[in-house]
Amino acid sequence: MAVRLTWTGRDDTPLTPAGRLEGERSARGRMIAGDNVAAMRALLDGAGRYGLAYLDPPYLSGTDYVHEREGARAYGDRWADRDAYLSMLWPVLRLVHALLGPHGTIWVQVDHRASGLVQPLLDELFGAERLRNVIAWRRAPPLGRQVQSNQFPRNLDLLFAYAKGDQARWHPATTRAPLPRGRARKGPDGRWFTLAPRGDYTDESVARLDAEGRIHRSEAGKVYVKYFVEEGDDGQLYKPRAVDAVWDDVAPLRHASPKERTGYPTQKPEPLLRRILEATSDPGDLVIDPFAGSGTTGVAAAALGRPFVLIDESPVALATAQKRLPELSIERVV
Ligand SMILES: C[S@@+](CC[C@H](N)C(=O)[O-])C[C@H]1O[C@@H](n2cnc3c(N)ncnc32)[C@H](O)[C@@H]1O
Repeated sequence: MAVRLTWTGRDDTPLTPAGRLEGERSARGRMIAGDNVAAMRALLDGAGRYGLAYLDPPYLSGTDYVHEREGARAYGDRWADRDAYLSMLWPVLRLVHALLGPHGTIWVQVDHRASGLVQPLLDELFGAERLRNVIAWRRAPPLGRQVQSNQFPRNLDLLFAYAKGDQARWHPATTRAPLPRGRARKGPDGRWFTLAPRGDYTDESVARLDAEGRIHRSEAGKVYVKYFVEEGDDGQLYKPRAVDAVWDDVAPLRHASPKERTGYPTQKPEPLLRRILEATSDPGDLVIDPFAGSGTTGVAAAALGRPFVLIDESPVALATAQKRLPELSIERVV
């Protein structure tokens, strides 16, 4: 028998289309005010058309979140128990599953508090074999306060990515990793490079690399291949590196520019959303975020040419998102 998480209040009754959306809509992006289950039931006529869903739900943190600048309550993340939390999340995941097409991918971001609950739900809905990645994002540098307590700092978010079907998009990515200056050399043209032995390169390949200025010969005549490295604006050297499942190169929001920081308490960095969108969607693919908060997914999707639907029930969230996406008007479920 398949592994299945049960809890008090689990409800598997079919989620049928219900309600409709009222308000002005644009093809580029939509913003819906209200409960995400009601909103997605009203969107079910588009089932199978969505290419990417990003979910950044409440984390089971037991906290009430307040807008950092305005002091207004943004949303609550308090639950009577884990059963209540699961009863909130389960219909959202089921509806997202229905909306995604065979080219679609779901991303769910949580931390240590809910990750153990979320993964079995996604396994059940999408199939454990559809798990693409569990990503660990270093969301904050270790803080003094955390280091002193009797545990390692809890500075990770986990992102679960599952493909809906066989045609799910996949685009690998590269990033850059800092390289100590002592490990590189500077050429007469001012460019920095590292050296590696020629390895399996044939004489023909070496000749081609030589023509590109990528061969270095030691005084003893030994052949090395040059790999150019980039010098950042910060004076640090960087080498290209394939993105893997540990994302320590996406800076926490507190390191983002003041222009990017909205004051919304759980805002995620735009580069995080860009990486997700670029890896698992193509321009034109429809993106949905049912826990939209300050609208980061919309900002990243708009920049990358993906139409999007944002849903949030918090007026503070919607007001924040609207400042970032001023051309959008707000639709409501009726
Ligand atoms: C962790 S925050 C999302 C932050 C967002 N990723 C950002 O970058 O700003 C979760 C959001 O989900 C919203 N939310 C929680 N339950 C909801 C529900 N049932 N329907 C709609 N929105 C909900 C909250 O109002 C909150 O803005």
